[in-house]
Amino acid sequence: MAVKVLFVCLGNICRSPTAHGVFQQLVNQAGLQNKIEIDSAGTGDWHIGKPPDKRAMQAASERGYDLSPLRGRQFSASDLQQFDYVLAMDQENLKVITALQQSKPRGHVGLFLEFDKNSEFREVPDPYYGGNKGFEKVLDLVESASQGLLEHIQKR
Ligand code: 4NP
Repeated sequence: MAVKVLFVCLGNICRSPTAHGVFQQLVNQAGLQNKIEIDSAGTGDWHIGKPPDKRAMQAASERGYDLSPLRGRQFSASDLQQFDYVLAMDQENLKVITALQQSKPRGHVGLFLEFDKNSEFREVPDPYYGGNKGFEKVLDLVESASQGLLEHIQKR
């Protein structure tokens, strides 16, 4: 059975779609697209059905990632029973996720950056109200943690 990974942020238009697109490309390059299933969601409901933020799509595109097919959806408690990894971008979203938890989750629930052993950051900072630098930082952190996550899953 495929390993199922869900990335979660607040709006599901900046950080989690970036993680979704970056990790998907890494998984595809490793030829593991049938073994690892990826999705993303937001704890908020403002951007349901919407494509990712234009700035996130532009910054990702400059590094060779296509986020344009992705659409926003809201995280729900049932995701905790569906996914082997529910990975939050920051503590605030992790708190919302665990507050919705009604029974023992199926798998690991935690912060995405835990999978980057070398990162001094524990959280991916929200780039929504800042400039383009924030989106570059998101990509840097996400690319690095994606490598660590793939290595971790391959060792399972
Ligand atoms: P994200 O960024 O959680 O990385 O998708 C945000 C997107 C939208 C909002 C906040 C953060 N918002 O308030 O609409």
